[in-house]
Amino acid sequence: MTTVASESASGGAARQAAGLPRLLPATPEDLQAHLARYGPAPYQRRPGVLIADVEASGLTGRGGAAFPVHRKLALMARAGARQGRKVVVANGAESEPASRKDEMLLRLAPNLVLDGLQLAAEAVGATEAHLYLHYAPGPQILRALAERSSRGLDRLGVTITQAPPRFLAGQEAAVVNRLGGGPALPTFQPPRVSERGLGGAPTLVQNVETLAHLALIARYGPRWFRAVGTSDEPGSMLTTIYRPDTRAHIREAAIGTPLSALLATGEGASDGDHAGIQAWLVGGYHGTWLPMPDAAGITLDNASLRRFGAAAGAGVLAALPSGRCGLAETARVTGYLAAESAGQCGPCLNGLPRIAAALAELAGSGHRRQTLADLERWSGLVTGRGACNHPDGTVRFVRSALTVFAPEIRRHARGQCSATDRTPYLPLPDRMPTSEEDWT
Ligand SMILES: Cc1cc2nc3c(=O)[nH]c(=O)nc-3n(C[C@H](O)[C@H](O)[C@H](O)COP(=O)(O)O)c2cc1C
Ligand code: SF4
Repeated sequence: MTTVASESASGGAARQAAGLPRLLPATPEDLQAHLARYGPAPYQRRPGVLIADVEASGLTGRGGAAFPVHRKLALMARAGARQGRKVVVANGAESEPASRKDEMLLRLAPNLVLDGLQLAAEAVGATEAHLYLHYAPGPQILRALAERSSRGLDRLGVTITQAPPRFLAGQEAAVVNRLGGGPALPTFQPPRVSERGLGGAPTLVQNVETLAHLALIARYGPRWFRAVGTSDEPGSMLTTIYRPDTRAHIREAAIGTPLSALLATGEGASDGDHAGIQAWLVGGYHGTWLPMPDAAGITLDNASLRRFGAAAGAGVLAALPSGRCGLAETARVTGYLAAESAGQCGPCLNGLPRIAAALAELAGSGHRRQTLADLERWSGLVTGRGACNHPDGTVRFVRSALTVFAPEIRRHARGQCSATDRTPYLPLPDRMPTSEEDWT
């Protein structure tokens, strides 16, 4: 699987202000190129100003839940340090196997993320800054940290911690547990990590893309940020798009862009050119399958997606080509998600493997009459019953598949399958985890 940045930027701040892309340069930018483009991070020494600007900008988190960023910042700014500690974490875990946007951002624009981390730390009065990464830190991020340190640019040193390659490792409580030296497992909340996080200290966890947007808002202001996007969901977001050629295209898109423009089938294809696509998966493996006619009429914003039971999540959009079996793909991914249950909460531990086994049965040849009813019952039993929303997200994905691929289920019941190509399509880690596997 190759990864391609579909959009590139060039030019200075004037060009930057004009349109998209805002975040991704064409090639990795070292500190010199970064400073030439943006100038130094605008520390304000008046933290409230940045929080007010972030509020006016309408920036929401890009890690999946789209929570308003200013509310987290304001809460953290008000929180008292615990034993002199207050913590900010840049979450680059990117634990969703289909997402590649954070990796690309950290490779191409590491200094933008680090600016955002430092600015957020200043705004909330943090005493510690952490960068949490799925991969061993790449040369670009290490170089950026070394260059910034030698020039004395940053108020706080940054500690890097590597996440285990687990789906849940990027969930915020799991992040905090891992940073504290424990396993990357979610825990029941409250208290939220903003109240009692790393070492008991108030902890702000923001996705790395969110921090990069924040670094630009600090420079160009909320009006600039709102120049693209919708009034309710302003700005742009990074998306990871899988077209039938199976390459992952990283594309920065204005929120509110028609999916049809993002989903055009290949380089040079025009909007609406969706030949050979039967369905779209929107929002990744906790996301929602949409049949092609629906997907073509939707825009990339939660207000539009919500009407179809979907959400943008962390921006994963995957086209399912006509010759593939959506049911088999869903069964394969659900098997992975079930194996990724942290095994701490009974309904999730027991329910997800049953759901995965029932889907595998549906995706096989012929199934028991009871299987569909069991699936529905187990889905109801696990929803809302976990310390994290892994069961809820998995059930959303499964239920949408049962609707969109209903004709395929009937075909399989008769011992048929419409697939002409049975090679796995949606990306999964090379090796499936085992439930006993290490979370550190
Ligand atoms: C199962 C699960 C996995 C998650 N993985 C990630 C991740 O890899 N990266 C990330 O930024 N947020 C991830 N999140 C969301 C985080 O819990 C948290 O909300 C986010 O990092 C906050 O940043 P934001 O507000 O800037 O999006 C995950 C959440 C869940 C429930
Ligand atoms: S809901 Fe599932 S994945 Fe989440 S903490 Fe509980 S057992 Fe682990």
